[in-house]
Amino acid sequence: MTRTALITGASRGIGAAIACRLAADGWDLTLSARSPDPLRTLADELRAEHGVRVHTAAGDMAEETDVRGVAEQHLAAYDRLDALVLSAGMGQAGAIADFPLHRLDKQYAVNLRAPFQLIQECLPALRATTALPVDHGGVHTGARIVAIASITGVTAEPSLAAYAATKAAVLSLCESVNVEESAAGVSACAVAPGYVDTDMTAWMHDRLAPEDMITAEDVAEIVSTVVRLSRTAVVPSVVLTRPGPRLWRA
Ligand SMILES: NC(=O)c1ccc[n+]([C@@H]2O[C@H](COP(=O)([O-])OP(=O)(O)OC[C@H]3O[C@@H](n4cnc5c(N)ncnc54)[C@H](OP(=O)(O)O)[C@@H]3O)[C@@H](O)[C@H]2O)c1
Repeated sequence: MTRTALITGASRGIGAAIACRLAADGWDLTLSARSPDPLRTLADELRAEHGVRVHTAAGDMAEETDVRGVAEQHLAAYDRLDALVLSAGMGQAGAIADFPLHRLDKQYAVNLRAPFQLIQECLPALRATTALPVDHGGVHTGARIVAIASITGVTAEPSLAAYAATKAAVLSLCESVNVEESAAGVSACAVAPGYVDTDMTAWMHDRLAPEDMITAEDVAEIVSTVVRLSRTAVVPSVVLTRPGPRLWRA
């Protein structure tokens, strides 16, 4: 049976690159983001190019009912969930001293609360996947959660306190999933890149050229590899840093 993934933030950037990569690997997908049109366009392309099934489920990750609806739409469309890929995210810069709390609340909702809730919604299906017969070249892959965190959640970056705190929490959340669920076959991996060339980093092209950033395809390659591993290999986190002397910095 074909494996399925639910990917949030799939309309562009890192999430779209992951969708392209998993479709090329033969996965059936549900793509989610707020804007339905780019999701439908990407879904059409992936169906035509790779012959996989692609469902779309639009929703705002800041809204609890939308988050639940996205999970329900995946589970209604497919009979299994092998990978939950959490890429929807947002960042707003500003020093702690005068950072508006409503901006912290929004980043918390999208970057942490929604992943936490989606994991809750999807755990029964992920657990059920671990009980299915081995059928992927003899490798029992179990079920995976892959969350796109950030290197700012590992090492602090000036003016990114709110964003970084949510991403540090995502790294922690993945570790907690592993201690609670991985013995039974559901494990979580937080991928923590430095600056990746997407719309999110367009604002800083004056100080860092896009060609000096990590590519979204590099992040997708990590995700593709992690979800192919056997269930006995738990990968709590993968950090991607840019070349040069600023190791561990964004
Ligand atoms: N780019 C980087 O340098 C970098 C580095 C480390 C980690 N990350 C993380 O990687 C993830 C993807 O970032 P990216 O660079 O691909 O950003 P991006 O190009 O801005 O894409 C963000 C994606 O998330 C969706 N999204 C944003 N807000 C949402 C909301 N409230 N509800 C549902 N979907 C929402 C967007 O679609 P809609 O606008 O249609 O909703 C889009 O699909 C994020 O979690 C980000 O924090 C990025």
